[in-house]
Amino acid sequence: MYSLIASIGLAFTLPLLSSAWIKSPVAGPIRGFNYDSTTADDFRTRFTTAYKLAGVEGGFNSARLYTMIAPGASAANPAPLLDVFQPAIDTKTSLLLGLYCSAGDAAFNNELSALKTALGQYGDSFKDLVVGISVGSEDLYRTSVKGTPMDNGAGDSVDNIKRYIGLVRQILVADGRGFDKTIPVGHVDTWQIWQDPTAAGALISTVDFIGLDGYPYWQNASADDVGAFTDGLAAVTNTANNQGGVPVWVTETGFPNAGDTRGPAVPSTANAAIFWQNIGCQQLFGKVSTWWYILSDGPAAPGKPSFGITDAATNVNAMFDLKCGS
Ligand SMILES: *[C@@H]1O[C@H](CO)[C@@H](O)[C@H](O)[C@H]1NC(C)=O
Repeated sequence: MYSLIASIGLAFTLPLLSSAWIKSPVAGPIRGFNYDSTTADDFRTRFTTAYKLAGVEGGFNSARLYTMIAPGASAANPAPLLDVFQPAIDTKTSLLLGLYCSAGDAAFNNELSALKTALGQYGDSFKDLVVGISVGSEDLYRTSVKGTPMDNGAGDSVDNIKRYIGLVRQILVADGRGFDKTIPVGHVDTWQIWQDPTAAGALISTVDFIGLDGYPYWQNASADDVGAFTDGLAAVTNTANNQGGVPVWVTETGFPNAGDTRGPAVPSTANAAIFWQNIGCQQLFGKVSTWWYILSDGPAAPGKPSFGITDAATNVNAMFDLKCGS
């Protein structure tokens, strides 16, 4: 049903197919992990860890980031995040860059300056390295009724995200190396937001890709409830196909190995493994570009689940068998 809709959508929209399809410089669906900002040494260690993961050796060679600002930077010293580039080049890890959008124009200008600095320094590598730029992450979710109680409404509006996307594109144009034509610029938000006609309807016409975050855990669904994930993906893909075939990328999904139980959603290593097999292996890997959440995030803190694939003790070995079909 879902693939039928998808292929009909594709067939009828081919002539309109935009730039978005031509833009992805990497052939085939991408597989990678989310990464917090950190130091160069740490990026190198973690990209190498991802490359060596038993069962999926070399398969997860892309990194999604949330900001262009270096960790530990302050408003007075918004140092650009440059530490990621050389380790990414050396380990052939592609990058889905991110600009943080939920702190107002001044903070966003720092993100833009950091992007400019990175382009100045590593721009020639952007061609093979940067598979996309996400302007914002769950900013619309955080301002929505669902997100407000959890995050105090610290998000942003559709109008601002559209304006910010325009500013990023201007920087790519001004750079002069043609990245405005090769690097897709999009936005990441939850699947509920991408289905909401008022919140996201207007944004879909602006983006080169839809970054979808989907967490059955936060919907209190059990790890083996496949529909809790696929229904959202199918709905957003359908909407995207009806609006010119904008590609849908899964920018975050995963299931916690530890943390609070939410109704039928019970964090455990066994359940993280079930979710990896059912959703990762069967629905996503090799089919939809996916950045899993997350390679490593340490042990669960009070009130915070742990989604890390690697065990907290070694930070290197996977907690469960990643081989599909195992
Ligand atoms: C999900 O589980 C949490 C934690 O147990 C609970 O507070 C919340 O009300 C549940 N939500 C729904 C929709 O059942």
